[in-house]
Amino acid sequence: MNARHFLSMLDYTTDELLGLIRRGSELKDLRDRGVLYEPLKNRVLGMIFEKASTRTRISFEAGMIQLGGQAIFLSPRDTQLGRGEPIADAAKVMSRMVDAVMIRTFAHSNLTEFAANSRVPVINGLSDDLHPCQLLADMQTFHEHRGSIAGKTVAWIGDGNNMCNSYIEAAIRFDFQLHVACPDGYEPNAALLAQAGERVRIFRDPREAVAGAHLVSTDVWASMGQEDEAAARLRTFRPYQVTRELLDHAAADVLFMHCLPAHRGEEISEDLLDDPRSVAWDQAENRLHAQKALLELLVEHAHYA
Ligand code: CP
Ligand code: NVA
Repeated sequence: MNARHFLSMLDYTTDELLGLIRRGSELKDLRDRGVLYEPLKNRVLGMIFEKASTRTRISFEAGMIQLGGQAIFLSPRDTQLGRGEPIADAAKVMSRMVDAVMIRTFAHSNLTEFAANSRVPVINGLSDDLHPCQLLADMQTFHEHRGSIAGKTVAWIGDGNNMCNSYIEAAIRFDFQLHVACPDGYEPNAALLAQAGERVRIFRDPREAVAGAHLVSTDVWASMGQEDEAAARLRTFRPYQVTRELLDHAAADVLFMHCLPAHRGEEISEDLLDDPRSVAWDQAENRLHAQKALLELLVEHAHYA
């Protein structure tokens, strides 16, 4: 199987990632000007969602339609995947019928197994380990507001989760410093930390982590699949709420991002998304544009075995 996949930011070079986010901005401009651009006519994206989604589903589905193609929404509930059909079998069959597959799943190994058996590109729409599509949008958003992120400082506040791991991958590829403030025992992936070396530092005190930061980001304290831990996590993470006052300790031109959905009163204060430093709505919109650039790269230029 020789298709190119997008399971992790590290699957791509810095130049390729910069090209993708530049292209995302170009596609955004085309859409803003009402220009029709339909290079994916008759192409089909299969989308498997084992977890809930608002942004990922809508951005991929709308993105495919805008590019002239179609997307099919599949959940384990209505497919044989939910009744135990092996992932490898599903991959072999689906990839003979569609032009790319997006998967939102629990174990990251579900993605790698699907990809290993797929003739067509497989895109990670979030796993327990990584959320690389969100990072394309976040990087596009930073570049649109502030220019290059290389050499800047980013503070991640809260859980060392899938989003945090993807921020580490972005720090490696986009060449920024990452300060992670998390409670003891909630650190991001150890292998990624080791790979990032001095680019990533772990803090316990959010104020220290945000000092001088050009971008501050956070995410929910209990991710999908961790519902049982939610109450305990509320107590553990309480000192990690991002507030306007916390942002005052960052650089004067700091931006705030949240991948959404947000829990106001938990990981962010009630008013944070209304603060002028927050670009969360631009960030959410850029899921559409950045992923259209990704679909264009993977589907338009793909030649299947
Ligand atoms: N940020 C994000 O992936 O949102 P959804 O869970 O709504 O897709
Ligand atoms: N960390 C969150 C991100 C949701 C977009 C989760 O996995 O639920």
